[in-house]
Amino acid sequence: MTERIVLAYSGGLDTSVAIGWIGEATGAEVIAVAVDVGQGGESLETIRQRALGCGAVEAYVADASDEFADEYCMPTLKANALYQGHYPLVSAISRPVIVKHLVKAAREFGATTVAHGCTGKGNDQVRFEVGIQTLGPDLKCIAPVRDLALTRDKAIAFAEEKGLPIETTKKNPYSIDQNVWGRAVETGYLEDIWNSPTKDIYDYTATPEFPPAPDEVTISFEAGVPVAIDGIKVTPLQAIKELNRRAGAQGVGRIDVVEDRLVGIKSREIYEAPGAMALITAHKHLEDITIEREQARFKATVGQRWAELVYDGQWFSPLKRSLDAFIEDTQKYVSGDIRMVLHGGQAIVNGRRSDTSLYDFDLATYDTGDTFDQSMARGFIELWGMSAKVASGRDIRVAGK
Ligand code: ARG
Repeated sequence: MTERIVLAYSGGLDTSVAIGWIGEATGAEVIAVAVDVGQGGESLETIRQRALGCGAVEAYVADASDEFADEYCMPTLKANALYQGHYPLVSAISRPVIVKHLVKAAREFGATTVAHGCTGKGNDQVRFEVGIQTLGPDLKCIAPVRDLALTRDKAIAFAEEKGLPIETTKKNPYSIDQNVWGRAVETGYLEDIWNSPTKDIYDYTATPEFPPAPDEVTISFEAGVPVAIDGIKVTPLQAIKELNRRAGAQGVGRIDVVEDRLVGIKSREIYEAPGAMALITAHKHLEDITIEREQARFKATVGQRWAELVYDGQWFSPLKRSLDAFIEDTQKYVSGDIRMVLHGGQAIVNGRRSDTSLYDFDLATYDTGDTFDQSMARGFIELWGMSAKVASGRDIRVAGK
């Protein structure tokens, strides 16, 4: 029987050419799998037909947009995950869900190998292949751009020679990856890290310099997950989409960073994640009133480690699973409403309320009715400073000798 290879298919030039390229290089039949993670753009049926037109023996579209929002974006939100303090893991969290569907398709169609369109310089090859090794340890991996010398020029020449139903003249100077959680743009003119991004780079966000009137929004959460916007019930996917629209219109969530790739390269990336950044801001502010101080401090460290693991392709690892259990436990009381103003590139919280809040007005107030006994503070400070005071006494004693 002819060997079969499942290809992660985006509909773009590289993966379209990869179908025939893999076929010629290996003699295998190629099954194209496109996964809907809310990337928008062309209809998935158009993409499916193109795969068949490019020689795929089967083409399959997996609708994973709700699954992606529920099982990948929501854990990222609960962790307030920002890699290196900036990047909400847009591409990093989409790879594991794509891998899940690739492995499933490999089983259904009797494939022995999974292929993806990544280069040999980035993080995504690692995320795909580590994921496949974990979920389908018997499956092999192949990356035509990296392993079969499929360069851009060769891809264009191949598409023209074979008359493939794909545009080869439209030159996009950037490498773009997008889904409902955000959009990532790199390469080209951006590789000079002093160059400021031009307007044409952005798609999910409007220019924050000339914003429309301020937009006040109330987001309701239950156990760390958004459940309503302005009182209207939403699913996680709807919440992200609605905030992409409203925060995007105000230019919220533009990020311009040089980040550390797993492979040791520093690289410039422009991100747009209006919904994700608005949600993370609101969620963090709700945690501020509902999570106990020590748990909150520790959770910040856990969230940072969680972001590094996910960035580094360890989504399916035991440590990531253990950290998920911790984070999930912290979310029990993260319920309530956050009111925020979206305006001019910023999402600023201006009100919060929760039935499970730890904010105690009677303890906090400086007005009459204060229940806090201030006389307790003196003794507390005395003991709190004791250890440092003893050490400083020793410093003075030693210096005096
Ligand atoms: N640097 C980001 C990451 O590793 C995004 C990579 C996505 N690719 C792109 N073509 N911009 O997660």
